[in-house]
Amino acid sequence: MKEISDIKESFIEDLGSVSTMAELEELRVRYTGKKGILTEKLKLLGKLPPLEKASFGKAINELKEFLQEGIASKKAYLKEKEIKDRQSTENIDVTLPGKFISPGRPHPVSKTLDEIITIFISMGFSVEEGPEVELDYYNFEALNIPKDHPARDMQDTFYIAEPHPKEMPEAFYLGGDVLLRTHTSPVQIRVMQREKPPLRFVAPGKVYRCDADISHTPMFHQIEGLMVDTDISFSHLKGVLEAFLHRFFGPDTPVRFRPSFFPFTEPSAEIDIGCIFCKGKGCSVCKGSGWIEVLGAGMVNPKVFEIVGYEPETYSGFAFGIGIERIAMLKYSISDIRLFFENDLRFLKQF
Ligand code: PHE
Repeated sequence: MKEISDIKESFIEDLGSVSTMAELEELRVRYTGKKGILTEKLKLLGKLPPLEKASFGKAINELKEFLQEGIASKKAYLKEKEIKDRQSTENIDVTLPGKFISPGRPHPVSKTLDEIITIFISMGFSVEEGPEVELDYYNFEALNIPKDHPARDMQDTFYIAEPHPKEMPEAFYLGGDVLLRTHTSPVQIRVMQREKPPLRFVAPGKVYRCDADISHTPMFHQIEGLMVDTDISFSHLKGVLEAFLHRFFGPDTPVRFRPSFFPFTEPSAEIDIGCIFCKGKGCSVCKGSGWIEVLGAGMVNPKVFEIVGYEPETYSGFAFGIGIERIAMLKYSISDIRLFFENDLRFLKQF
């Protein structure tokens, strides 16, 4: 017991003369390290008669706490002293805010796509992909878009090879032109040719059209949707798209279905939401109508089912296509589509 109080005393003395972190560390090892004074004393515990063991053990524990507390408070003191010293010698103002390191973040187009995909996944849809360099067959022909359809006009479609290029070996030639897909609808054909119903998927990706102004860029993004099974009706299409639009734009957003035409759906519809800029009163964005078109959709044309080898008497389905930039512009009140692709940090940092 006498020894223990001696250790305390010498510790207090030693601690008092410590003036750097390195010295403190040396002291810590000497007193409480694996081969330190405290461990040496602990070894004695085993050799003591049972009666003395308890009181000696208690004293050792108290010593241990005493040493640890002393070291910890000296450490805090030294740290503070170091900051104060540096402040006076280096003129550091510790109250200044730190340097802001700007983290990377998802591009607004990716963010919007992720959000849309998450909503459809929650409704049981899976995710498919298709190539951006596509054959005329998938982009037009199999979607019931005839040879003389205006959508095939050279002005809209980027063709990247002449019909049957000479340098392409006969064995690889699938027939028809090679182009940059003008929509994500060719993924419908690719998946239907590969798989049997039931189908329920979305297909996001880049599409290309030879077009440029404040609402068009030569490359933009779409997400396609397709659901095929026995007994799929127009009410399923309405239900799914309304649920999606209410999740994406808010539950009170007015939604309206308008008759339209697409060669690969019959009947077809365009879907509008109440203009979010004027709340339906009529403004320059909605051209006074109070409504803004957000997507195209319809029941899969039986001709398309025939082309992919699905029995049109047995199966029915619906398809839709959403323009990502367009829907993002509406959600975030962006007036010019080109902002998405200029990579101006002042714009990107707002998302
Ligand atoms: N592919 C059409 C477009 O790009 C959109 C659409 C997809 C319409 C699916 C109906 C069904 O305009």
